[in-house]
Amino acid sequence: MIFRQLLEPVSSTYTYLLGCEETGQAVLVDPVVNSMDRDLQLIQGLGLRLAYTLDTHIHADHITAARELKQRVGSRIAAPAFDRLPCVDFGMEEGRPLQVGSIELAGLHTPGHTDGHFAYVAGERVFTGDALLIDGCGRTDFQNGDAQALYRSVTHKLFALPDETLVYPAHDYAGRHVSSIAQEKARNPRLGAGRTLDEFREIMANLNLPYPKFIDYAVPGNRECGLCPPDLPQALEQYCRTMSQSPQG
Ligand SMILES: [Fe+2]
Repeated sequence: MIFRQLLEPVSSTYTYLLGCEETGQAVLVDPVVNSMDRDLQLIQGLGLRLAYTLDTHIHADHITAARELKQRVGSRIAAPAFDRLPCVDFGMEEGRPLQVGSIELAGLHTPGHTDGHFAYVAGERVFTGDALLIDGCGRTDFQNGDAQALYRSVTHKLFALPDETLVYPAHDYAGRHVSSIAQEKARNPRLGAGRTLDEFREIMANLNLPYPKFIDYAVPGNRECGLCPPDLPQALEQYCRTMSQSPQG
């Protein structure tokens, strides 16, 4: 399998490219609209054809490239069925994996950051979205977030994966690239090292994070599988503007 981790720097989002060497089919996990040209160039350079985009959840901090990529290269849109978005071609559910050539992506419903959030397992890798980050986790105070649900998703579902499973998160704000289930179990300061549910709730209730500056545009745009709002204030235009092309990640 061809595998690349690609950084979108405006929202520090990681997009993942998985390519099947036998069929030439590819899937992008959590593609971002402003880095779409860079990602397409890479896919074409590798001799692959984008068959699917796959989102982990309805993002609040960037616009998914799912809709634009579908229009541009005919890729199909996969996303959690839970959110019932009419623009989705393949609704991800537990027990109904997405097959892209020889690549199988199995969904795990991991609510808590959002209620519809999914993580995806592909062989020895898990794409954890915002449910589990390296030494952290996504916030639980918007989009039907729920600290108790997130605790259960991480400790019962993600930590139940084999210890050596590689953890690829949707974000990292400190330049880290990959972790493992064993490492997060052992040292994640919020959810690992035997943290109890009560301790986790206390941590999440006291993060004092600012209001997400892009959420009021991103969520409605992403409920349409990635529409850039026409009324974007100038300060937020970078979220929809094509980023300068430079090799990343
Ligand atoms: Fe998120």
